[in-house]
Amino acid sequence: MKAIVNDSFGGPEVMRVASVPEPTPGPGQVLVKVVATSVNRPDVVQRQGNYPPPPGDSNILGLEIAGTVAALGDGVDQWRCGDRVMGLVGGGAYAEFSLAWPGHLMRIPESMSWEQAACVSETYITAHLNLFQFPGLLDGQQVLLHGGGGGVNTAAIQLCRALAPSVKILVTASTTKVQRVRDLGVDHVIDYQQRSFQEEVAKLTDGRGVDVILDHIGAAYLHANLKSLAVNGTLMLIGVMGGAKSDLNLAQLMVKRQKIAGSVLRPRPVGEKSAIISRFASEALELFSDGKIIPLIHKVFPLEKVVEAHKLMESSGHFGKLVLIIDSEVSL
Ligand SMILES: NC(=O)c1ccc[n+]([C@@H]2O[C@H](COP(=O)([O-])OP(=O)(O)OC[C@H]3O[C@@H](n4cnc5c(N)ncnc54)[C@H](OP(=O)(O)O)[C@@H]3O)[C@@H](O)[C@H]2O)c1
Repeated sequence: MKAIVNDSFGGPEVMRVASVPEPTPGPGQVLVKVVATSVNRPDVVQRQGNYPPPPGDSNILGLEIAGTVAALGDGVDQWRCGDRVMGLVGGGAYAEFSLAWPGHLMRIPESMSWEQAACVSETYITAHLNLFQFPGLLDGQQVLLHGGGGGVNTAAIQLCRALAPSVKILVTASTTKVQRVRDLGVDHVIDYQQRSFQEEVAKLTDGRGVDVILDHIGAAYLHANLKSLAVNGTLMLIGVMGGAKSDLNLAQLMVKRQKIAGSVLRPRPVGEKSAIISRFASEALELFSDGKIIPLIHKVFPLEKVVEAHKLMESSGHFGKLVLIIDSEVSL
């Protein structure tokens, strides 16, 4: 089958199209013929050599798929060959065929295109997990989302608006993305390149701070994040684009009764991931079928242009998602 391989770690140029053996589903697994996938920032980190796949998962890049069920391993009875599915994989999405666990797949709503379906699993489930499943953001609370033009955070904005309409949404964005983030219907956009988000959050919340912060910057934002967090608030850490090590005043954390929680999705045990996906599907999938949420796609590339797609993601020139089409024969 056709797949993207990288013989070494490094810049986008280490990736190339190659012919590799098609995987065979083991007991309890599903083989999916992939129509489309999308580029996620963790793919970039893996390509650079800093995010290896969990043991047993494919070394091929790619964390989410949209396609049709092609074959079933022993004991799988939830799916039939030909079903249109989207879901998470531990690796291997940049390929014509990919292996998945049945509980990590969801039926694609009829109204959704393959391109849109390829954008749902990694970003919306990450946003749902780290806002609504834990720490349990409630309607009426205040949330700060960093990097409002990115894949996870455009998803987070849409989910907050749809699931908790009275949540006050504060978002940081780079100068060129401020207006587009504002157009998504958030309460306040802070241009982090022009202003201190800590000062802006203090002004916008009358010094109280927000209840939840979803952060992927890490060390560079740790102190400002904790200053922007209300008493009893939770800082959800899902990435370390701004460094992984920092110091911390534990006394302040204790006195303000704040929580810092880290979360990753990919290496979780199969059953735990199935439960997360099932909860996402029951609480949010209808929003996609009803057209209340439509994934924001910045650009669609054929798989062969994966180097271009990764370069665009690294430049942060995108707004929303970057899609890779693997099977262009299928009507999109
Ligand atoms: N833990 C998990 O389960 C999990 C799952 C998926 C993704 N992630 C992580 O989530 C993050 C986002 O992933 P993604 O796929 O959505 O990537 P993405 O589309 O590239 O989004 C990243 C965004 O961060 C913005 N940004 C960069 N520096 C910033 C700063 N100093 N302050 C505020 N925003 C900044 C970028 O835009 P500008 O540069 O224009 O501001 C860009 O919009 C990554 O760190 C990824 O590893 C974690």
